[in-house]
Amino acid sequence: MDQETFSAVDEFIAGTVAADDQELRAAVEAAEAAGLPSIQVSPPQGKLLQLLVRLVGARTVLEFGTLGGYSSILMARALPLGGRLISLEANPEYAAVASASIERAGLSEVVEVRVGPALELLPGLEEEGVGPFDLVFIDADKVNTPNYFDWALDRTRPGGLIVADNVVRNGTLAESGSDDPATGAQRQLHETLADEPRVSATTIQTVGVKGYDGFLIALVEGG
Ligand code: SAH
Ligand code: DHB
Ligand code: MG
Repeated sequence: MDQETFSAVDEFIAGTVAADDQELRAAVEAAEAAGLPSIQVSPPQGKLLQLLVRLVGARTVLEFGTLGGYSSILMARALPLGGRLISLEANPEYAAVASASIERAGLSEVVEVRVGPALELLPGLEEEGVGPFDLVFIDADKVNTPNYFDWALDRTRPGGLIVADNVVRNGTLAESGSDDPATGAQRQLHETLADEPRVSATTIQTVGVKGYDGFLIALVEGG
């Protein structure tokens, strides 16, 4: 098995059960045209996020890392009428591209992109009393994944989900001696969650257009 096969299978899935549409294609094209890195979730992963939003009956979603708005659009579409998604993005140029694509997709009443480093935006969210959230998707700077998780855990309702992308990192998750801080952060998160009674979690390894990685899914207990 090689990357070519992984990509071909993702393309098959994207051409069948996880099909895109004009607005999603436009979002990807706008991001590409503006020079954004092509690191959005793959179509099958995006479809999974949609299914998770529906499975928990989410009305309120928080996202860390907007990029061009691809995952925001997918999750927002899975929300019921009156649902709301807040997405945090450090890069103002990326946020502008995302906001335009979100508007084109007819979702500007549903999705709010906030600009700034997420850790600096969180106190403002706190003050406004937003949340509790039904689902939190963590997909920003990877060294801070444990910090975002920590904050999210106190603000996600019982029965809600916290999902973190890019935790397997080409398999380096298993390397105790890894000197990559992003990998160290994912290892620390897993070790912390092993002793955290408030969540039940697992990590699923993935292959696909984005290579070899994986995501963590944590269910907040008590729901
Ligand atoms: N969720 C997106 C992909 C996000 S890529 C999708 O699947 O479509 C990661 C994003 O996190 C990038 O846009 C990057 O600019 C942003 N980011 C990096 N550091 C950040 C920080 N400290 N706070 C908020 N966003 C950050
Ligand atoms: C990167 C970020 C992501 O969210 C991702 O899915 C893949 C790569 C990155 O920062 O390189
Ligand atoms: Mg990611």
